[in-house]
Amino acid sequence: MTVNWGILSTAGVNERSILGAARASTRGGVLAIASRDRARAEAYARDHGIPRAYGSYDELLADADVDAVYISLPNSLHPEWSIRAIEAGKHVLCEKPFSPRAADVAAAFDAADTQGMLLMEAFMYRHHPQSAKAAELVTSGAIGEPRFVRTMLAFPGVRFFGADNIRFDATLEGGALLDVGSYCVSGVRLMAGEPLRVHGTRVLGASGVDLAFAGTLELDSGLLAQFQCGFASDVRSELEVTGTDGRLVVQQPYRIEEAGVDLWTQDGHRRIACEQADPYLLQFDNFSAAIRGEAPPLLGRADALGQARTLEALVASATSGRTVAVAE
Ligand SMILES: NC(=O)c1ccc[n+]([C@@H]2O[C@H](COP(=O)([O-])OP(=O)(O)OC[C@H]3O[C@@H](n4cnc5c(N)ncnc54)[C@H](OP(=O)(O)O)[C@@H]3O)[C@@H](O)[C@H]2O)c1
Repeated sequence: MTVNWGILSTAGVNERSILGAARASTRGGVLAIASRDRARAEAYARDHGIPRAYGSYDELLADADVDAVYISLPNSLHPEWSIRAIEAGKHVLCEKPFSPRAADVAAAFDAADTQGMLLMEAFMYRHHPQSAKAAELVTSGAIGEPRFVRTMLAFPGVRFFGADNIRFDATLEGGALLDVGSYCVSGVRLMAGEPLRVHGTRVLGASGVDLAFAGTLELDSGLLAQFQCGFASDVRSELEVTGTDGRLVVQQPYRIEEAGVDLWTQDGHRRIACEQADPYLLQFDNFSAAIRGEAPPLLGRADALGQARTLEALVASATSGRTVAVAE
């Protein structure tokens, strides 16, 4: 069985995330595209060789030949359309961040369980072998006991996307924390587990979204993590874990063009090469294989809940100015 995918929206991310992956994959292909605007859907289908075009998201969900839906809508629409797709009998790969509210995540995974559908939050970097390698180095004791995690993801948002982009729209849940900080939170959780308490500070822009966000996270066993993210600086991304016997650095932790992990220990510096791979293809193949019953999805309810609980606590902290416990 080849998985037939439908895409909700003509989003900019589609080309990189799903269209390229589907072209390279033997497990699935894109059957349909939906847009709020029929003419836009039809032009998009023509340009990208997609057989079916729909002028509303509901029409695509009513197509019985569509097995799985990729949701690349603005953040505020992720939970609603994931649940609508699940209730229409579709498996769902939803772009990050699924939601900054744990209750949304629980409701969507409950719906998926009830309907017998799969749901995964699309953190493509988690599918890259570099991520598993870095986590394995930490858990295998390559740097001793981990003590600090530090990570950053930032880029000039207006220069890259323009000021009227969804990232600057508060009503669509734009903002640096949800857009890029969600990667930092995911990276910290991959390296160190679930945060217990968080403190967040942000810089708000004129449109009401956070243009910069810094977070401190207290983890189990005395581990501390800090991250910075934003839309108002030059491009910067890094992940570092410092332990009792050394440290490791991932220079491209989230958008990975040259994979590798740098390790410093008492024996000096070592660059650990990782297999080069397209994380979007790995994500697409993992989810398509899961639908075909060949493998479990890499990310499920527990990961999405951990993300949402931490993001929710960070938003509450930045709003109140207090340190906030992460709900269990
Ligand atoms: N994993 C990654 O590498 C990655 C990279 C970039 C973005 N993302 C995620 O992907 C999602 C989309 O990001 P993007 O930059 O691709 O967005 P985008 O280009 O702005 O596209 C969003 C699409 O949503 C649809 N839409 C529905 N309601 C809308 C509204 N009220 N305002 C604007 N658009 C609306 C539009 O499509 P129609 O008009 O056709 O319906 C629009 O093209 C976000 O959740 C983002 O976090 C992930």
